Amino acid sequence: MQATDPDLNPLFEPLQLGALTLPNRVLMAPLTRNRARPDGTPGELAETYYRQRAGAGLIVSEATQISPMGKGYKDTPGIHDDAHIEGWKTITDAVHEAGGRIAMQLWHVGRISHTSLLPDGAQPVSSTAKRAKTQTFTEEGFQDVSEPRALGTDEISGIVEDYVRAAANAIRAGFDMVEVHGANGYLIDQFLQDGVNDRTDAYGGDAEGRTRFLVEVVKAVAEEVGADRTGLRLSPTGHFNDMNDSDPETTFGLAYDRLSPLGLAYLHVVELFPGLDVPAEEQAILARLRERWTGRYIANGDFSAGQAAEWIGEGRADAVAFGRAYIANPDLAERFARGASLNEPDQSTFYGGGAEGYTDYPSLED
Ligand SMILES: Cc1cc2nc3c(=O)[nH]c(=O)nc-3n(C[C@H](O)[C@H](O)[C@H](O)COP(=O)(O)O)c2cc1C
Repeated sequence: MQATDPDLNPLFEPLQLGALTLPNRVLMAPLTRNRARPDGTPGELAETYYRQRAGAGLIVSEATQISPMGKGYKDTPGIHDDAHIEGWKTITDAVHEAGGRIAMQLWHVGRISHTSLLPDGAQPVSSTAKRAKTQTFTEEGFQDVSEPRALGTDEISGIVEDYVRAAANAIRAGFDMVEVHGANGYLIDQFLQDGVNDRTDAYGGDAEGRTRFLVEVVKAVAEEVGADRTGLRLSPTGHFNDMNDSDPETTFGLAYDRLSPLGLAYLHVVELFPGLDVPAEEQAILARLRERWTGRYIANGDFSAGQAAEWIGEGRADAVAFGRAYIANPDLAERFARGASLNEPDQSTFYGGGAEGYTDYPSLED
């Protein structure tokens, strides 16, 4: 595809991303939409929603729980039983038929959960027993998250196995890739950042200890499905979900150094989370960290088409993922190519509900 505006041409250069060849670099970011069925199978409109967005260079699915304990919000989908695999299969088939590619984002929320969402009212699990100062979305509406319990050292390998099983299930369901969700304050991030991880075992303490769980998960998943079908999402300067690290450059620098040699399909970084300012100092940290990642790099966070093309042109990113713009513009890549105007996303329909604000945003053809 050629863009009407030649400055945007970098967005339409094909890209080899691990095992996949992408026709463009306008990717769809993972977006939780809370429209799954109570049993965790995708909702009836999900097939239409994802098919409509098959023009993305790569779709990353909404975060999907790897186990019943990995769930933290009402009506999010899972990938831990046969019904989930069946449900997702119709979606991956639809995306492929429409000429697209799709990765599944593998999710364990850790302490960002509520007992009412977990099996038999269980307590959420985390690296810590400290409750996060944040809320989650339950059957009763927004509620403070529940107090977690710290995972025992001997329980951690079981969670690594859950990631591996979920990754294998995703491939069985027809996904082209998996993306390990290590960002935004969920379980893996709860191990990484020292403002949360207060463990004294081998999974806590210095950066070596705090990156151990991440590295074990990513290595095991890559062994299962292939490094060239494994991506990773991180948010080194993220504060969403009550996160904080006293020295993100050291923590995440070590993570990048340990994971770069694995030859993963990509690293996907949330550079900016909507509504939370990124101070210049943190932007500089992200830029320095970026230099330490030797593989493909996907940037995300409030990008315009022009900025994305600039970053790609300068080699700061290989591709850019768009979140809110993809909610409102199913044919976003084509709109960028044609220089068309964009639909505005309606925040009130982001989380939960039916077709409104989900499958009814018009494409250019409409
Ligand atoms: C409605 C909504 C749901 C989201 N769900 C997820 C998710 O499931 N997994 C994830 O890693 N990030 C999630 N995010 C973050 C987005 O992937 C993205 O990082 C953020 O929207 C910034 O990109 P943007 O400015 O292009 O929208 C979500 C954001 C929004 C607005």
